[in-house]
Amino acid sequence: MLGARAQGGWRALRRCSSLPRAVRLRVREALGTREAVDAVRVQGWVRSVRSQKEVLFLHINDGSSLEHLQVVANPNLENRDLTFGSAVEVQGKLVKSPHRKQNMELQAETIRVVGPCDIWSFPLKMKERHPLEYVRQFPHLRCRNNTLGSLLRIRSEATAAIHSFFQDNGYVHIHTPIITSNDCEGAGELFQIEASSEVRESAEKTHFFNVPAFLTVSGQLHLEVMAGAFTHVFTFGPTFRAENSQSRRHLAEFYMVEAELSFTESLQDIMQVMEDLFKTVTSTVLSKCPHDVELFHKYVAPAQKDRLEQILKNKFVTISYSEAVEILKQASQTFTFKPEWGRDLQTEHEKYLVKHCGEVPVFVINYPYDLKPFYMRDNEDGPQHTVAAVDLLVPGIGELCGGSLREERLPFLESRLQRLGLTDTYQWYLDLRKFGSVPHGGFGMGFERYLQYILGVDNIKDVIPFPRFSHSCLL
Ligand code: 4AD
Ligand code: MG
Repeated sequence: MLGARAQGGWRALRRCSSLPRAVRLRVREALGTREAVDAVRVQGWVRSVRSQKEVLFLHINDGSSLEHLQVVANPNLENRDLTFGSAVEVQGKLVKSPHRKQNMELQAETIRVVGPCDIWSFPLKMKERHPLEYVRQFPHLRCRNNTLGSLLRIRSEATAAIHSFFQDNGYVHIHTPIITSNDCEGAGELFQIEASSEVRESAEKTHFFNVPAFLTVSGQLHLEVMAGAFTHVFTFGPTFRAENSQSRRHLAEFYMVEAELSFTESLQDIMQVMEDLFKTVTSTVLSKCPHDVELFHKYVAPAQKDRLEQILKNKFVTISYSEAVEILKQASQTFTFKPEWGRDLQTEHEKYLVKHCGEVPVFVINYPYDLKPFYMRDNEDGPQHTVAAVDLLVPGIGELCGGSLREERLPFLESRLQRLGLTDTYQWYLDLRKFGSVPHGGFGMGFERYLQYILGVDNIKDVIPFPRFSHSCLL
């Protein structure tokens, strides 16, 4: 049976007599078809050409699936331009394939080379499994490689699954600004925005927006505004940090998923949403892109599949920051940064903690008051003073999510902002605590780190569509 989309295509073609009667199918649709179809048109790029005396075999891929469509043709349809990498349109009969490995194949009647490809200078080679480091050198061509093709389909499904998760749970999606004047995290990792020098010279003003403006480091404060009118909100957009780090888990531009929940007094509620989000999105991706995920679990990170399946079945572990420091102090391993209460947990510490807990995701809660940004809720404890903060650590990566309860009490927030000299800057934020303030909290999850983790990818640059600023080709 043809899919609904393909049938729609048939009807449209029959109505318009000037068009050829061949129905246009995507490779994925053609492979999923159950019965023979007489006149079919498939467009894509050639992934392999095998010419035999009696028959010509082509494999066509159009990005709709990891699997290619096999085209079987008379060798007299072969021509010089029909090479690996060329763009083609093939018309013919879709029939049951005699081969066990594929369901359908296309018996070509015509093959048109739409765009030839010079195989000698094309950096990808037929039937070669290029390492990720190699294809990273060609940011403009690497999407034609199987691994990147799979990654981009997974990225697309995971994006849709994140939106569905929140929409299904009654959250309102908010587009938070990309250009903003606030430094939510207060860590100073900001990219400042200015108009080009020509505009500045003619405008005779210091700043384009009259005040310094930056690319957003987090949509949290804007979500908090919205959490004053909607009980559940989320955002999922580009985020920028001027971290001069060449690490395998930091990007200057990345995507962050953020949620904010009002009428929430317990950090556990926030952690439950993090865990549910992780498990729901991962299960969806595993069921919607099994072949794409399998490619990573087979060639990039063997054993990751079993580990992930275990993780989906079990509850995430929770420890407090103070317990974490004790675990680290008792470790036989020597760390570059000595663990001490009141000091930040370094990546080496996070990796050790995850290992100590059995290589599973671990929530670390209640961090020192002095380590965390002004908006986190004071736990009013002592002598070790903490805030209601949570980080979710995962094997191989370290921090995947960061969140907290927010300080909703006006006097607490006022005195903290005063001590930091930020009262004037955050008058609007103080207003939120004057007019119908409620206990609330939220979190942010790094989307690229999420993909890195589920797929077992070592370098974060291999899970983004364009590895910016790593080579001379700055797309
Ligand atoms: O822990 P972070 O800094 O938390 C916030 O920005 C909060 N305001 C979020 C909130 O509560 N709404 O960042 C959240 C996550 C990190 O845990 C990490 O996964 C990711 O964003 N992240 C990065 N990912 C890639 N490259 C970077 N430079 C990143 N910085 C943070
Ligand atoms: Mg953090």
